[in-house]
Amino acid sequence: MTGFIRHIPGIKSRPRAPANGCKGVGVLGLHEGRTLLVGLERIASARAVAGCDLSEEKLAASRAVRPELFYTTDYDQLLAQPDVDIVAIYTPDALHGEHVARAFEAGKDVICTKPLVNSVADARRVLAAARKTKRRLLVGQSTRFFEPFLRQRAAFERGELGALELVDAHYVHRMDWYYAKSPWAARDTDWVFLGLSHPIDLVRWYCSRIEEVQAFGTTSALGREHGLAGFDVYVVNLRTADGRVARALGHYGCEELPAARNCIELLLYGSKGTSLAQYHDMRYTHTAADGTQVVEDPLYSLRDYYFNSEVHGMHYGEFANYADHFARGLIDGTPCSPELEEGLETFCVMEAVRRSATTRTPVAVSTVHDEVFGA
Ligand SMILES: NC(=O)c1ccc[n+]([C@@H]2O[C@H](COP(=O)([O-])OP(=O)(O)OC[C@H]3O[C@@H](n4cnc5c(N)ncnc54)[C@H](O)[C@@H]3O)[C@@H](O)[C@H]2O)c1
Repeated sequence: MTGFIRHIPGIKSRPRAPANGCKGVGVLGLHEGRTLLVGLERIASARAVAGCDLSEEKLAASRAVRPELFYTTDYDQLLAQPDVDIVAIYTPDALHGEHVARAFEAGKDVICTKPLVNSVADARRVLAAARKTKRRLLVGQSTRFFEPFLRQRAAFERGELGALELVDAHYVHRMDWYYAKSPWAARDTDWVFLGLSHPIDLVRWYCSRIEEVQAFGTTSALGREHGLAGFDVYVVNLRTADGRVARALGHYGCEELPAARNCIELLLYGSKGTSLAQYHDMRYTHTAADGTQVVEDPLYSLRDYYFNSEVHGMHYGEFANYADHFARGLIDGTPCSPELEEGLETFCVMEAVRRSATTRTPVAVSTVHDEVFGA
């Protein structure tokens, strides 16, 4: 037998909702991207058809689990495949701008993992290419698509929290192991765009227009050991145009204390209720109408779907959920979130955070916004 059993009979999972069509997906970058190749088996609206990586080793690892797909080391060959409708990009951050623009030019729609881009020049490049080609793009903000965060959002949209008054998000995770696997992470990007992209996107998702950020950064001992170019510890205060406040926190060179806090948490304080979504533990905690605290914990019913029954594992379920959201949006002609402009607005907030921490002054997000969206 090749590969491994991906669905264990008898373990509950999310139902496969029928779709009005099925989009072919070609995946570029097969480390994190391999998770999508496997995750796509969970949905009906999209299927994996091709994979591309410069590394023969990565191609072999994907071939072992999905032998029937077309594989290549040449991105142009992937783009030339007529059954690839969506190109899903999981290459190093600094290459996303080029890879997105080339996919658009080849007539493909795109899923791009977070961060969409990590420079103003690349933000302008993808915006120009999208306007010229009229192709669509979804940013793969995986945390939004994890079960507790989906439940929290649905409750918010039903009005159960009332008006949001404070949003508090963090992603704290020891990540020094990442530098050996992906040296570009210490050199060609910044933790604002890597780890902190999760809490910043979550804050922006709920606060929409962030007007001003005030950020502080420092470099941990582990970060210094690895010659990190920027900061790996961030504390960020954010203010919205209508005067609400939020906080985002990140630490990527820490000693972890996982029993105390989950690595990603989003705490929403509203005028009618409070809620907390957590990753990895798959818990959603919220106040009921009578003030009772309710804890929903679907980990054991949904671990097959989200983690391949590994209890705490890779992002199979989140990636499947966002691919399904986007494929249905393309098939049915409906809007998705976060699409290109929303992703670029999140980039503007991240870049304002980076500048604020570097210059030690508050930064108006509009300055970056003008550079990206201006003439
Ligand atoms: N939660 C999430 O959504 C999540 C988690 C981890 C990483 N990421 C993002 O995914 C991206 C990839 O991260 P990773 O950990 O897999 O990095 P990685 O360094 O392990 O893998 C990148 C892969 O891209 C391949 N590659 C580079 N240039 C290429 C090219 N021109 N053509 C074909 N293949 C090429 C490399 O050979 C490598 O296999 C990053 O942007 C990262 O920020 C997202």
